Amino acid sequence: MCGIVGYVGARHATPILLDGLARLEYRGYDSAGIAVITSTGELQIAKAQGRLQSLRTLVATAEPVGVVGIGHTRWATHGRPNDVNAHPHGDCADRITVAHNGIIENYASLRDELMAKGHTFRSQTDTETLAHLIEEELGDSDDLNLAVRNTLKRVTGSYAIAVVSRAHPGRVIGARKDSPLIVGLGVDENFLASDIPAILKHTREIVQLDDGDIADLTATTVTISDLDGHPRQPPTLHVDWNIEAAERGGYPHFFAKEIAEQPDAAHRALLGRIITREPAPTLALDALDALVASGRLDAVRRITFLGCGTSIHAAMIARYAIERWARLPVDVAIASEYRYADPVVGPDTLCIAISQSGETADILAATRLAREANAPIIAVTNTVGSAITRLADGVLYQQAGPEISVAATKSFIATVMTLYLLGAWLGRRAQTLSEPEEQAILHALLDIPEQMRRTLATFETREGQQTLASVTGRLKDCASCLYIGRGVGYPLALEGALKLKELSYVHAEGFAAGEMKHGPIALLDTATPLVAIATEGKTYEKVVSNIQEARARDAFIVALATEGDDAIRQHADAVIAVPRAPEFFAPLLTVIPLQLLAYQVALARGCNVDQPRNLAKSVTVE
Ligand code: M6R
Repeated sequence: MCGIVGYVGARHATPILLDGLARLEYRGYDSAGIAVITSTGELQIAKAQGRLQSLRTLVATAEPVGVVGIGHTRWATHGRPNDVNAHPHGDCADRITVAHNGIIENYASLRDELMAKGHTFRSQTDTETLAHLIEEELGDSDDLNLAVRNTLKRVTGSYAIAVVSRAHPGRVIGARKDSPLIVGLGVDENFLASDIPAILKHTREIVQLDDGDIADLTATTVTISDLDGHPRQPPTLHVDWNIEAAERGGYPHFFAKEIAEQPDAAHRALLGRIITREPAPTLALDALDALVASGRLDAVRRITFLGCGTSIHAAMIARYAIERWARLPVDVAIASEYRYADPVVGPDTLCIAISQSGETADILAATRLAREANAPIIAVTNTVGSAITRLADGVLYQQAGPEISVAATKSFIATVMTLYLLGAWLGRRAQTLSEPEEQAILHALLDIPEQMRRTLATFETREGQQTLASVTGRLKDCASCLYIGRGVGYPLALEGALKLKELSYVHAEGFAAGEMKHGPIALLDTATPLVAIATEGKTYEKVVSNIQEARARDAFIVALATEGDDAIRQHADAVIAVPRAPEFFAPLLTVIPLQLLAYQVALARGCNVDQPRNLAKSVTVE
């Protein structure tokens, strides 16, 4: 996830671009850059690693001066966060320059093709391929719009781009597919941006581009077409948000925004990993292929997951699937315990260190310990270039985009999806998964973003909101709340309880439902609600029995059940329905109402949702 801004008009572009990027820094802050066409027709590019302030310092001494330009703030996916990989990226002669948000999945083959034709690449990014491809498509022609359209027809993956060209000094071209891009309409000036806050200071008249749109901007005109050049006229929207609300996309809290972003995060987690080509999707995990080639996985006989908090819950969910698919024993270790234990670890143990931030002190220490024992390490993180990546033999990025709220949401689902990809890859390698089984997994993963959208939509209906409101009413004043589940429902119960306690400060605990009789059931009474994960699966009947046992102790029962399960209603006081999904995949949907419930309870109790007391986003101290 990156931020893009573009300007064409009569004003000095650099301050407008820098200000826009500041409003988009929430989308990424590994590096930033601008490209401005000067009054003498030069293309001046300034880029700097790190937060926007580094770029501001750079341009303070040599400010590009012109009235047309593009800017970018980066959340690295391909290539380390450094000056060279910072956007915008130019073609061979820096005649054309491109800022890009997204992933060009077929960049490697395009790059080989372009290099064979004599193009010289300077960065490790997928984006640079676009600049060279536009150069190639443009050839001796003057039709920049056509060259961009032809380029985009050749790429697979996701993109929002902004393009300027020295030979076309009064224009900025933008296009999008699966990454956001809007046009801002001004008076004798026009704007491009990834998000509304970047341009809200200058205009409130916005056009949302659709997938496949290309927008050609001059100071006085905006022409939008599809990639075949057929004109399109999307409506102009008037935005009346204030800047603060706009940064949260109109949501009252980042937590709510990030819950809503989960379908996109799930989609991004698969980008470049499941290649959706005919006749069937295929799995592509280059980082793991490289590990195999290096021989680092030769001795592996078992897996250990290392993590904390939500990351460990995601690992506990994935453990069930990986054991089933790859027939390898999997341990899940809390990093703060592992680092002081005397774990049995060595080259036969594939250690998978999971950390959204990549900076959690306990996970780094536990990973170092495993590394010293010569265990192969794979980092699963959302943060490119973070400390955990430097300890690992290979990295799988969560690709969830920046997560601002202290309570994790989209990184949880992106982690589970990434680990499922890993499980399918291991199963295929070990030949413990048949071709049809692998295909079923890939299809189930591909279905998840849309099913998440459906799940979210359920809670926007009157009925969905009423159900959440009535459960919130029961939970908001209780002293304690129990969550139960079995199989993948158990770690999900832990995650639901963690969300409730960290956001609303209501005491909540998750239990394996079968453990209730061994102690926790003593906690139940009329004042202690029980939230049961009762979606379809192997242990559904068992969970229903546990619900009945709890109800017999007068507990208020909230059941999270599969859509269409009417039978559960006789056992529960409230039923929250989620769309049907294969058992291992159901937690990716069921977690949504658990997050929403915690959010509503926190609001009802007047808690600081995005920054709960005593907590930090990144726990970099022990
Ligand atoms: O950045 P990490 O994934 O390493 O963070 C781990 C935990 O600190 C984190 O998941 C924490 O539990 C969250 N506040 C949960 O919402």
